[in-house]
Amino acid sequence: MPVITVPHAFNEEDLYVDLRPIFGHSLFLKCEGFNFAGSIKLKTAIEMVESAERDGTLTPESIIVESSSGNLGVALSVIAASKGYRFLCVTDPRCNLATRLIMEALGSQVHVIAAQKAQGGFLGARLAYVNALCDSDSRYVWLSQYTNPSNWKAHYRRTAPEIARAFPGVDVVFVGAGTTGTLMGCTRYFHEWHRPVRVVAIDSVGSVSFGGPPGRRMIPGLGMSVRPPLLDETYVDEVIHVEEANTIRTCRRLARRGFLFGGSTGTVVSGAMGWLDQHDTHDLTAVAIAADLGERYLDTIYQTNWLQALYGEDVLDTTAPPTGSRTAGTRPGGRGTATT
Ligand SMILES: Cc1ncc(COP(=O)(O)O)c(C=O)c1O
Repeated sequence: MPVITVPHAFNEEDLYVDLRPIFGHSLFLKCEGFNFAGSIKLKTAIEMVESAERDGTLTPESIIVESSSGNLGVALSVIAASKGYRFLCVTDPRCNLATRLIMEALGSQVHVIAAQKAQGGFLGARLAYVNALCDSDSRYVWLSQYTNPSNWKAHYRRTAPEIARAFPGVDVVFVGAGTTGTLMGCTRYFHEWHRPVRVVAIDSVGSVSFGGPPGRRMIPGLGMSVRPPLLDETYVDEVIHVEEANTIRTCRRLARRGFLFGGSTGTVVSGAMGWLDQHDTHDLTAVAIAADLGERYLDTIYQTNWLQALYGEDVLDTTAPPTGSRTAGTRPGGRGTATT
């Protein structure tokens, strides 16, 4: 029976859903949403805060500032509240209302950037705001999840070893790419492991992280409008790009079986199922990471009007296969990219 005194002391690290009954391929989905921040970002946040405390960057007078589309903002809000820091989250209109209200309920201040930059999109505008703030007042401490090595180290130290312990025979791991902290932590760990594991990055169509053309992306969590500074592609075995319409279909299909996951889980599962369709899965152990749960997305990806307006009627069909039309460029057993 876990008994805790601080919220970040609890994290369910050993829960997996086997998706075979839903999608036909065995895929062990690691559920990272069961903690007081509701997402995998709790690990990133605690690693970054405690490392800044250790090196003296963070003092009791500091005001933590961070650019986040939501989950890291909530995780930092939880930790700031618990440790007595002030926290300002800089976000943009794609941040869900529920996420914003949670941060405010935890005592954080939320600043929503209304206009995006012609070059760099909303993220560019958020970063410019944070930079100006830090220049104006030395109490602001920007943990900078996009560049902070503690981001990937959190997953090198925790997420990847958790998978390795649970599945000593794991062959392939599917990891969504936002800042690429989770991806880089996992892929670095498995590169050093005693047996080969293929790490497949899952990104959204419209993200420029792996060099694709920029495009509209409405689902927060995955994808970037600038190249992620933490990304080292030499460690990434393969990249799959997923259309948001397929993300939505996959999320809705999971929900119809009682699993209400967040948007990025739909992206990762859609990409993973496309990959598994194309490979010999006999005796293959595949794991994917579900970064959060679905309650924060009730007014977007689980809301019919929002979906119809953005993606059209087809997206509501939960009987359609989770993966889409195109799987160009994949080289089974080799490095490549694909789009689902
Ligand atoms: C829901 C969700 N999924 C996936 C990710 C991607 O994680 P990372 O930033 O480690 O690449 C994030 C990051 O914010 C997220 O919020």
